[in-house]
Order: sequence, then structure tokens, then C-alpha cells
Amino acid sequence: MAALMTVNDPELHASIVRLGMVKDVAVEGRAVRLTVELTTPACPLRDTIEQDIRAALEPIGIESLSIAWGANVRASNPKEGQKPVENVRNIIAVASNKGGVGKSTVATNLAVALAKAGARVGLIDADITGPNLPTMFGLQAGLQRDSTEGLRAVERYGVHLVSIGFLLPKGTPVVWRGPMIGSAVRQLLHDVPWPDLDYLVIDLPPGTSDAAMSMAQDAPIAGVVIVSTPQEVSIEDASKAISMFEKLDVPVFGMVENMSYFVAPDTGTRYDIFGHGGARNAADELGIDFLGEIPIEPAVRQDADAGTPVVYAHPESASAKALEHIAGLVAARISVLQRMGV
Ligand SMILES: Nc1ncnc2c1ncn2[C@@H]1O[C@H](COP(=O)(O)OP(=O)(O)OP(=O)(O)O)[C@@H](O)[C@H]1O
Ligand SMILES: [Mg+2]
Repeated sequence: MAALMTVNDPELHASIVRLGMVKDVAVEGRAVRLTVELTTPACPLRDTIEQDIRAALEPIGIESLSIAWGANVRASNPKEGQKPVENVRNIIAVASNKGGVGKSTVATNLAVALAKAGARVGLIDADITGPNLPTMFGLQAGLQRDSTEGLRAVERYGVHLVSIGFLLPKGTPVVWRGPMIGSAVRQLLHDVPWPDLDYLVIDLPPGTSDAAMSMAQDAPIAGVVIVSTPQEVSIEDASKAISMFEKLDVPVFGMVENMSYFVAPDTGTRYDIFGHGGARNAADELGIDFLGEIPIEPAVRQDADAGTPVVYAHPESASAKALEHIAGLVAARISVLQRMGV
């Protein structure tokens, strides 16, 4: 334990022993077995921690090391006036001010990536008037139309999904006014019996809409992921979304650049269709983190339409790798915010 004391969690900058992350240490001769309890199963720096543990134990003569990985995701603290969502530890919102930039794609794949890493994950389709998530999950619209129990989460790809689309046949328009949308959003959060969840991802509709506002005021959101495409008009709108969340005192995790570039599969030539790097520059200017760039890949669109999210169906693709990386960054960021007591 004294040797392990020198190993720091690379994100929390404190000793893994002090943080209580080292469990069940067993020493037999020169062999050591131990469990490291991470603050998220989606920890992007697991390899670094393992290397650091090895480096700390070798000098004291340990020859064989076996690490079991566990995770205990802690809950974010609600602010005054916010009602915690029962059974839900952390809420991650995905937003942008512009339509069609890939919010639903990012929300879906973040959720599936976190579940793949071993977290317990839920997903709310808060796009009340245009719910797309049933399709993106390969679920039939209207599947709970005749339910007498109200909306229930449906599990797919390890994610517990709720969408107003479960109540409506495909193509039925929802023509509700603002206050009704706000109350529908509240019900999706508080009236659905959620199982125990480490992360609940919320796919917000575009803009500073009623759904986005009610969600931000009502729910203890750990932070928001802002999605933008590289071009100026999209960035302008993303900046507006960022100021809205800052006004509402919701932390912004950072910005994702979607449709960042395209690599032609036949020639390997790269094309920056909407420009490139606009979101990274904007994030720098706005003083928020840049979380990553997702290329345009036909598989992303095809998998969304086929109801098999790309991180599930094509995990080797560049876009899936980018999305999994972003999921790890977001999960790590939540751990850090909690450590800071935010
Ligand atoms: N990186 C990508 N590569 C290829 N297609 C993509 C990519 N990102 C998103 N798409 C496709 O672009 C379309 C719009 O994406 P999506 O529905 O996720 O956007 P949105 O921001 O949620 O839209 P809305 O504002 O309508 O809610 C979808 O058909 C989706 O499959
Ligand atoms: Mg959407």
C-alpha cells in the first residue's frame, strides 16, 4: 500500500490509495492481486493507471500483478430548486442550437458507448415534437400505444430508452404548445420508473426551446455536450446554446465537431466538406473543452436508419472510435466535477 500511495489518479490528481480506489489487495510471495475501483467504467486512462501501478510495484520486487477493474459511479448533487431524478446518478445533456447537426446521433452513440464500457445507462428522447430515437434504436414507433401504465423504458444495446415516440404511430405530428412540452419533458424525467442508472443521457431538440429550458432548469444536469458542424453558421448557433446553459448555471462539458471531414473510401483522399476545425477554434475562443471530431461516414447514417448505432454495428470505424473516445472524456469529466464538489 505504501508503494501504491505514490500512484496518482491521472485525472483527479490524488493518490489512488487516498481516493479509496485500491481494494482487495492479496500478496502471495512475489505475486500481487488487487482491485482498482474506478470512478467510471468508461475510464479513458485505465492503461495509464495500470502502467503506473506496475512501475510502483516493480521496485519492491513484485513479479506478477493481476488487476481486476471495478467502478463505482457517484451521483451529482442537485442544485437548489432541482429535483433529483430517482435512481439516476448523473445526467448528461446533448444539445445544439441548430437542427440536423447530429445531436441524436451523438446522444445515441454516447449512451451505447457508455453501456459497452459497463455503465448502467438510460437515454431520454426529449425531442418531443420530432422523436427520432425509436428509429435509431430499431424500435417500432407506437410500441406502447396501448399501455395502461404510461411510458416505460425499453432496453436495447444495454441502454434504457424512453421516447414519446413509443406512444405515437410513426409520422404522427405532435402539435403541442410550449407549456405542454415543458410538462411532458418533466414527466419523462420524473414519472418514468428508471432502473438504477450511472448515466442518463438526454437528447435535446434544437434551439433554446421549451424542452431544453425546462430540462435545464428542472433536472440536476451534470453537464452538456454541445454538438456543432464546422461551418460558421453552426458555430454561431452553438455559441448561443452555450450562453443559454451558462445563464442557467449548467456546466458545459465541451464541444464536439460532427461531420468534421470525409475520407473517400476509394482513394483515401480527405475532403473538408463543411470546412474543418471551426468547432475546435470556437471552443478555444469560448474557453470550453474540445471533445473531439467525428467524420462524415456513410455507415453513421446507414446504421442510424437501420436502428443499429454505429458504435455497436461498426466499432472499428473512425466515427465509432471518435464517439467512444468522447464518451470516455465525458465520463471522466463527471468524475472530476464531483471530486471538486460541483
Ligand atoms: N458523422 C456523420 N456521418 C454521416 N451521417 C451523419 C453523421 N452525423 C449525423 N448523420 C446523419 O445526419 C442526419 C441528422 O443527424 P441527427 O438526427 O443526429 O441530427 P439532430 O441534430 O439530432 O437533428 P434534429 O435537430 O432534427 O434533432 C441523420 O440522418 C444522421 O444519420
Ligand atoms: Mg435529433
